Amino acid sequence: MGWERVRLEFARGVSVRFADRDEALRQVERVAERGTRFPVVVYGPEGCGKTALFRQAVEILKSHGYGVVYVNPAASVKDEKVVSTEDVKEIVGATVGLLEPAAATLAEKAFELVSRLLSVKRRVAVILDEVFQAVGPERAEVYVKALLDAIEYPSARYESFVAIIGSSEGTTRARVARHSWATIRVLWNMAREGFKELYDQIPGPGLDFDSAWRLTGGNPRYLAMLYEHGWDAGSLVEEVVSARRLKAFASRLTPLQLEALSEAVEDPDRLLEYLKRGEPSIERLVDSLVELNLVAEIPDRGYGWLDKAPPEKDPSLGIGRFYAWQTPIHREAVRRALSGVHERA
Ligand SMILES: Nc1ncnc2c1ncn2[C@@H]1O[C@H](COP(=O)(O)OP(=O)(O)OP(=O)(O)O)[C@@H](O)[C@H]1O
Ligand SMILES: [Mg+2]
Repeated sequence: MGWERVRLEFARGVSVRFADRDEALRQVERVAERGTRFPVVVYGPEGCGKTALFRQAVEILKSHGYGVVYVNPAASVKDEKVVSTEDVKEIVGATVGLLEPAAATLAEKAFELVSRLLSVKRRVAVILDEVFQAVGPERAEVYVKALLDAIEYPSARYESFVAIIGSSEGTTRARVARHSWATIRVLWNMAREGFKELYDQIPGPGLDFDSAWRLTGGNPRYLAMLYEHGWDAGSLVEEVVSARRLKAFASRLTPLQLEALSEAVEDPDRLLEYLKRGEPSIERLVDSLVELNLVAEIPDRGYGWLDKAPPEKDPSLGIGRFYAWQTPIHREAVRRALSGVHERA
């Protein structure tokens, strides 16, 4: 194994070593050996570790002789918008330009980058993080198709090409899935043992591991946020409620939507029962929950997971067979917003 685990900024002043995800890393190794026949589109709850995994994937692909470029139009730090291996730095710089391009332009430039890179390297990997957000979710499928064309009709003869797209826009999944233009993989929050490996790297955690697990469901970003909130889960939940304006959201719901959502807080699979009634208002509710990154639709446990699948059903973490709360904190935030509506009623 010719690569090392990367270090990641976990919270202000705390860096950690990339933990666990062994199964996902094995899949990246396999991709590096064979290339991707189709672009691989990775979905997963916000903060579950997609970008961290891509950072690690850059190292793995590099060790397999790839010229790698990672593009994230949504990155807040300029230096993190475009990251590439030394061998292709010049060409990447010349293509992307010295001026800071707008997010959508950066996403579009990826195609030009691919064709230029293929003319100088026999092994090329592009990792496009959050590009759907940049080009507009309604264009997600067109974007994937354009990338597939770059693989199928290359401008130069290449030996191996890898294309990975990351997205937390759950709403685009159905659009991308209705064509056979991509391989869809879902990354869930970390499994308990792997999450412990991350937790153990945090200086003097002010919360026991069981509580950290119960609150975050293995989501590393929410663990970092808990840390930054001085381990005060209540204030973190309050922040989620206000940042997403969940009280306003709840106050706009119809009595039927409120009933469905209250039951979904206890068991997310109740959403499916309500959907079966064919009520358009319930479809709108579920769409909003996915769009607000509160709930995720989860595929069969036996298929399509990038790392370990979540448990078949875990009511304590809000995980059902078909739907799951992204983390218990998201569920708690909705519970709190709903209690406000019930109090006023
Ligand atoms: N395997 C890991 N080992 C150690 N830390 C991790 C790991 N995965 C994620 N993290 C930490 O959790 C934070 C959130 O992860 P990351 O930004 O990768 O999530 P994401 O899925 O890309 O989120 P978003 O949907 O918002 O883009 C990272 O900054 C990193 O500190
Ligand atoms: Mg990310």
